Amino acid sequence: MSDIAQSVKQQADIVRVIGEYVRLKKAGAQNYSGLCPFHKEKSPSFSVHAVRQFYHCFGCGVSGDVFSFVGKIENVGFPEAIRIVAQKCGIALPKREYNSPEEARESRQRGKLLELHEQATAWFEEQLRLPEGAVAREYLSGRGLTPEAIGRFRIGFAPDNFNALRERLQGSADVEMLRLSGLFSFKQQEDGSSGSIYSRFRKRITFPIANESGRIIAFTARALDSGDKAGPKYMNSPETPLYSKGQVLFNLDKAKQTIRQHDFAILVEGQMDCISVYLAGVQNVLATSGTAFTEQQVNLLKRFTSKVVVNFDPDTAGANAAEKSIVLLTEEGFEIKVVTLEGGLDPDRYIREKGAPAYIAALRSARRQQDYLIDRARQLFPGRNSESKVKALNFLLPHIRRMPSRLTRDEFAADAAQKLGIDSAVLREELKQAAARRREKVVSPTSGVSQVEKILLRGFCGESGHPVFDTLAAALESEPAQFEGLTVRTALESLLHRGSAQPLESISEGRSRALLAQVLLEETDPVTEQEAQFALENLRLQFLEGRQRALRAAISEAERKGDWGLLTALTAEKLSIDRELRAVGAG
Ligand code: GTP
Ligand code: MN
Repeated sequence: MSDIAQSVKQQADIVRVIGEYVRLKKAGAQNYSGLCPFHKEKSPSFSVHAVRQFYHCFGCGVSGDVFSFVGKIENVGFPEAIRIVAQKCGIALPKREYNSPEEARESRQRGKLLELHEQATAWFEEQLRLPEGAVAREYLSGRGLTPEAIGRFRIGFAPDNFNALRERLQGSADVEMLRLSGLFSFKQQEDGSSGSIYSRFRKRITFPIANESGRIIAFTARALDSGDKAGPKYMNSPETPLYSKGQVLFNLDKAKQTIRQHDFAILVEGQMDCISVYLAGVQNVLATSGTAFTEQQVNLLKRFTSKVVVNFDPDTAGANAAEKSIVLLTEEGFEIKVVTLEGGLDPDRYIREKGAPAYIAALRSARRQQDYLIDRARQLFPGRNSESKVKALNFLLPHIRRMPSRLTRDEFAADAAQKLGIDSAVLREELKQAAARRREKVVSPTSGVSQVEKILLRGFCGESGHPVFDTLAAALESEPAQFEGLTVRTALESLLHRGSAQPLESISEGRSRALLAQVLLEETDPVTEQEAQFALENLRLQFLEGRQRALRAAISEAERKGDWGLLTALTAEKLSIDRELRAVGAG
């Protein structure tokens, strides 16, 4: 590693840098954990070590230092990663270094394209202020946008001119680069050369699209006129080296902090909706830009929250997009609520007609996804005859089955049965069969075994005398209570007491053996001391939290009985547990 990289690494705080991408919680004295941004997961197995300055995911196995993290997540090379980290931490860099000419070229290209977008944005803003921009200004003010709002979102105007933008930009980049920017269209010549380029966006209001860090990477542009001649209402930049539509969420740069603070995001369809909601003071809002969610967008959002309020247009297209998004979001473990605004209004018009307070009230009355879906089923298949009921039920069943927890599934099913007027026993039977079918498909012995348990199993396969084995063995012998209730406990105990010459396969039977085999097959590297530490800290936390719950119940029982002696003892124990949990940041 170069001196520069070394020095940036020493100064940078990995927890802070990764914390900008992943919601991290303190999980131990020097550990933080969160949901891994590199693979799908519902419970956190991604951890960051504050002192050793590395990250590791026990789920998918990725690990590395702050540069490898930034490189992976931003999809950039090593030198660019150093630059980003330095910038985030306010560290000055002397000069750039690249590993290969290729890397240098890509980085220059990205830099140039960003610069072109910045210049184009400024130019569009300028055009909006010129006399030729009057119609556009009127249009915007007619839609309730003040000059401040226009400035805040850097809204501009692309005049009805094929060449002006090219003339403005050609001093800063060659034709090839201009073509690559997506700001221009071009005619292929007969001889195969690319021929002349001309402005893609004309006579349109321009809305810049920014990446997560607020750099402009594309535009979406709304036609001022309507009708066939004006072309599509909204026109987007094409895919470019900077921009891929399915990977961007409009307004994420402005919304991300508030999303983390409030731990939920509001999803709307249109960028105008998004802007209006934001300006109404609700800043944790994002636009999907007229399409159902993509998986990449869900993964992007998951780095900030796992709760959403979906507020799509109350028309058929909006309802379908909402339904598709609910499916995707549920599969990714999101908690979802849905708002349907009355009067068939989209968020933008609702706010303009009824005002911000009314909109905020509507958000508060958002329904849980199950209530929304039941209502939708009844709307789609009205009538109380058995045919409509069957159809409504068929519409709902896949949604019910998809719910991640047994509890919400049962509750959803009971509500559906009641509201549709179906015998709930029939519905339960239907679901049971579906669940059985699903179980047949995925009979992995390790499903339901946590990462922590896998680490323990692997660790206990080691030899006595090895520090990892000894640490784990000591923990099991001194604190057996912490291991109670683990699926793998029997397996661990037989591993602990096995004879030195006994082969691993012979130590346990049935479920335990299948588990052991599976875990050993999945993981090849030996358990490190950090992993073992992580596992034990995690066990202790779980144990303390369980004990805390039990004590709460015992305390109220002792209060009820008036057993003051017992109450004092219990309260003292609970206080000490509370203190210990608080000390590791889990209280
Ligand atoms: P306004 O009429 O400006 O208020 O737009 P809207 O946000 O109400 O648009 P609408 O509900 O019709 O569509 C929602 C979103 O879908 C828009 O914000 C765009 O992102 C996208 N969209 C709409 N029309 C088009 C189109 O013709 N082409 C493309 N690519 N996207 C569109
Ligand atoms: Mn709309």
